[in-house]
This record gives sequence, C-alpha cells and structure tokens, in this order.
Amino acid sequence: MQRIYLDNAATSWPKPAEVYDAVDRWQRENGAPFGRGVYDSASATDRLVHDARRAVAEVLGIDDPSRIVFTLNGTDALHLAIQGLIKPGDHVVTTVVEHNSVLRPLRQLESRGVATAHVGCDGNGVVAAGDVIKALNSKTKFVVVAHASNVTGALQPVAEIGAELRKRGVTFIVDAAQTLGELPFTAEELSCDLLASPGHKGLLGPLGTGVLYVRPGIEERLGSIRIGGTGSQSSSTLQPKTMPDKFEAGNLNVPGVVGLGTGVRWLLERGIANVREHALQLTTRLLDGLLTLNGVRVLGPREASRCVGLVSLTIEGYDPQEAAAVLATSFGIEARAGLHCSPLMHKALGTDAGGGTLRLSLGPLNTAGHVDAAVAALGQLTATG
Ligand SMILES: Cc1ncc(COP(=O)(O)O)c(C=O)c1O
Repeated sequence: MQRIYLDNAATSWPKPAEVYDAVDRWQRENGAPFGRGVYDSASATDRLVHDARRAVAEVLGIDDPSRIVFTLNGTDALHLAIQGLIKPGDHVVTTVVEHNSVLRPLRQLESRGVATAHVGCDGNGVVAAGDVIKALNSKTKFVVVAHASNVTGALQPVAEIGAELRKRGVTFIVDAAQTLGELPFTAEELSCDLLASPGHKGLLGPLGTGVLYVRPGIEERLGSIRIGGTGSQSSSTLQPKTMPDKFEAGNLNVPGVVGLGTGVRWLLERGIANVREHALQLTTRLLDGLLTLNGVRVLGPREASRCVGLVSLTIEGYDPQEAAAVLATSFGIEARAGLHCSPLMHKALGTDAGGGTLRLSLGPLNTAGHVDAAVAALGQLTATG
C-alpha cells in the first residue's frame, strides 16, 4: 500500500532529497563542532551553520543573520521568548488559538504571579485584532499570538496586531510554527519583536531544529534560559551578551542545522510564493472535495486563501481517532486526530468533547493525487459510516 503522509503540520515529510544528502554528508565527512575549532572541518562547520542562519534570515527579510537563534524546536524557541521576558507581576495577552507550547508556560507562570488574558475567536477560529488591543493594560509585558492555527489553519491578523502594538510600545511575539516557509512574509511586515518557529515544519529541516528571530535591541531585556559554553569569550564565566551566543549555550545540533539550511535554500530556490501557490491549489482541491461528502463537517475557513495548507474535519458517526486509524490501516493515509495540543481552540470550536478533529495537512511535496486519494478514502468512510 502506498504511504500518503498528510501530517505536515506536525512535521514535514518527506523532506527534499537534498536535505537527507546534506545531513548524511556532514555526518560522514565532517562531524566537527560549531564555533569551537580552527581546523579545516571545524571551519567548514562554521560556514555551514552561518549559511543556514543567513538562509533563515533571508526568509524573514533580515540583513543581519546573527538575529537568528537556533533552538531545539518551536516549543524551545517560544520558551526562550516567554521565559526570557517575563517577571512576576507582569500581564500577558494571548489567545485561545494558541498551542500548548504557549498555553502551558503561561499557565505555569500564573502560579508565579503572572496575569494572563486569553482573547477569544469567531466561529472560524479567527481572532479580532481589536479584541487583542482591548485586552492590554498598563502591566502588559508582551502579546503572543499564533500566525496560523494548527487546528483550523486559519490565518490570524498578526500584521494588524503588530502595527497597533508597535504604536503602543508593547512587545509582540509571533508563533510562526505553521507559516514560516509556507507563506511569504517578512518580520517587519508583522512588526514583531520575537518570532518563533520549528525548523522541521515549513522550513523543511530535520526534527530537533527550531529558530527564534530577535529584533535588534530586544536581546538586552531577554534573559538567557540556558547558560554555558559558547566557544566565544571563554576567559569569562559570564554568559556573552552578543547575538546569537547569549542564547546558544552548549553544542549546536549541527546535523540538524545543516539539514535546516539545506531545506531553506531549497525553498528559496523555488520561491516561497510558488510554494504557497502549490499549497493554495491543493487546499482548494481538498476543501472542494470534502464539501461534497455527506456527514463531513469542515472546521475553520472554507477559502484556502484564509488558511495555511491544512484542513480539520469531523465525520458524523466516527470518532476522529477511529477515522485516523481506518485511513492509516485501510488506505495508507497518515493524518492526525485529536486535540492537536490546542485544547482552548477545540473548546472554542465545540470539538473538545467529541475527541477533537481529524486533521489533514499538506506539504510542498504532496500532490493532487494524494489529495484525491484522501477525499476518495473519506468518501468510502462516510458511505459506510
Ligand atoms: C502553532 C504551533 N506552535 C508551536 C508548536 C511547537 O513546535 P514543536 O513541535 O517544534 O515544539 C507547534 C507544533 O505543532 C504548533 O503547531
């Protein structure tokens, strides 16, 4: 049975062949650490890591690659942004759309004297910029919002929110886990101060990679959450204050970063606008197909232009986990069911009690044939359900 992977919102697969080749080549032929040696292989590693940083900076329209911090994943990047800024007594504005990588750290901080406001959304899972601004108060330290929901795919008005926050001097963190590498945008277009993303989703790097963009000046008030060796300023027992060393203690995941740089170069060569166009075509095809099926309810926007390349649905008479299991075992279709680490989003959509939704998420290497196979399989499920 052919394997059709439709869980790209969790992590993208397959990666371009160039990513596997680059990781394999580096592991076999190099293997030297980053920022710690002057011998040839170490210098070659330094150049590869620098190239990867430059490639991610280019995606975000940034001239200075040192503004990009490599992290372990999206959660780690958000953790650094949130924990690095917060102090007891602060207030934070976020939304019900967020992933647990935002909700859980904030929940834990509530027990340490941090107040939070969770702004609601409409029936499509979209937050209103005005509601975010209304939730601010004099103690608001920052606002953190997902660029797109990982449950419905709905794009959030982050550029509008960012512009309003910049006028008010409020720090803005964007969780771009579902958009970086998938949509063309720059950090300045979102007016964000910090932008967190996994490296292993739209950026097409291996698992175990993530990035945090830090706007110039923000690093002065962003504390390091990991302190230790950086290979730089080694005579001092104090953590360096320079970017990105302040936030990159310990050996980097070089094979991951090499793969990430290669994935991002692949995207830049194709053009992220073209990658987006492909996602729009496949998502439209998927939505059109699903909307012909009786008993299938699509959550979130019905227009591909209002979301990233993922669709969440429920099927009358089927538990989402059961539907995912049948798709996998009978049709080779790999999709994710459940609450997708976003409990408040499912609560807002009314899908929490029924076990969440079935989510089909597309990547740049998916084809129209994959979409048609998924629609046909769901058609059989609804016919027999
Ligand atoms: C919206 C959103 N934020 C954050 C994350 C966390 O990313 P990671 O799994 O790389 O930690 C995810 C991953 O699913 C996500 O979808």
